[in-house]
Amino acid sequence: MPRVYVTRQIPRAGLDLLAETCELDVWDGALPPSPEELRRGVAEADALVSLLTDPVTEQVIAAAPRLKVIANYAVGYENVDIAAANARGIVVTNTPDALTETTADFAWALMLAAARRIPEGVEFVRAGQWRTWGPELLLGPDVWGATLGLVGLGRIGSAVARRAQGFQMPVLYHTPRPHPEAQDLATWAELDDLLARADFVSIHTPLTAKTRGLIDARQLALMKPGAVLVNTARGPVVDSAALHDTLRAGEIFAAGLDVTDPEPLPADHPLLALPNCIVVPHIASASYATRERMAIMCARNALAVVGGEPAPNAVNDG
Ligand code: DGY
Repeated sequence: MPRVYVTRQIPRAGLDLLAETCELDVWDGALPPSPEELRRGVAEADALVSLLTDPVTEQVIAAAPRLKVIANYAVGYENVDIAAANARGIVVTNTPDALTETTADFAWALMLAAARRIPEGVEFVRAGQWRTWGPELLLGPDVWGATLGLVGLGRIGSAVARRAQGFQMPVLYHTPRPHPEAQDLATWAELDDLLARADFVSIHTPLTAKTRGLIDARQLALMKPGAVLVNTARGPVVDSAALHDTLRAGEIFAAGLDVTDPEPLPADHPLLALPNCIVVPHIASASYATRERMAIMCARNALAVVGGEPAPNAVNDG
């Protein structure tokens, strides 16, 4: 029987599917396995189901002589050394589509919460400070009718753009090249232009060598003073220190972060002391149905490869 090492408890539906034809070894720690534990876990594995919190390095791959497939439980796969996997002919897969709409919903949740100051309002009520209705209590910018700027227009960025129609928002997007098929959804702009014109900027680009630090102090300085920045992509796309200084100085209105750099953010991180910065623990895809879909997709990818079939969601040639 092929052996599968799974680096955390994932939804039952995925584990059950794998268990039908494979021997499972599931890491049951609340935290990810350490690099040594991961190397030990993959030593006899034919398939690895990894999470975005597991650096699947060259060393991990070298410790897995039988490994045929790395099925990453995420759409992003920057945690996997693709070159090392390619060198060994190992297929790497991800979970596209499974989480598109759920993550797009969450980008909107952050835009609305940050602009309309929902966490501040909740704290205000809990602290017993709500004495009366106030004409100037917790004011924020309107979302409807504002200009939305999307950095990246892949699956999730496009789903965010579609929702903007309901808010009567013009949408700009930046990608390295314009996508002519997106012309009914959004208008292409240079990044600097987008940042200068958008009232809401939402990040939807994968983390690559080119996008790491893409939104730095210079870029943040281009944003409007009343603008809101939302990141549901990957933390390192935004320079955390520069974002902190920008928010602290009130140079933009607010930020909503599902992802951070570092991740997790330590409890004493200066971003957490800012009332105009909402930080949540990388939960944009965290709906019951989506996480189950991701688990099933991972299982199908792993099973396909160990069964000698092409993986439905391969990101390399293996
Ligand atoms: C992903 O899939 O890459 C998300 O960040 C987590 O669901």
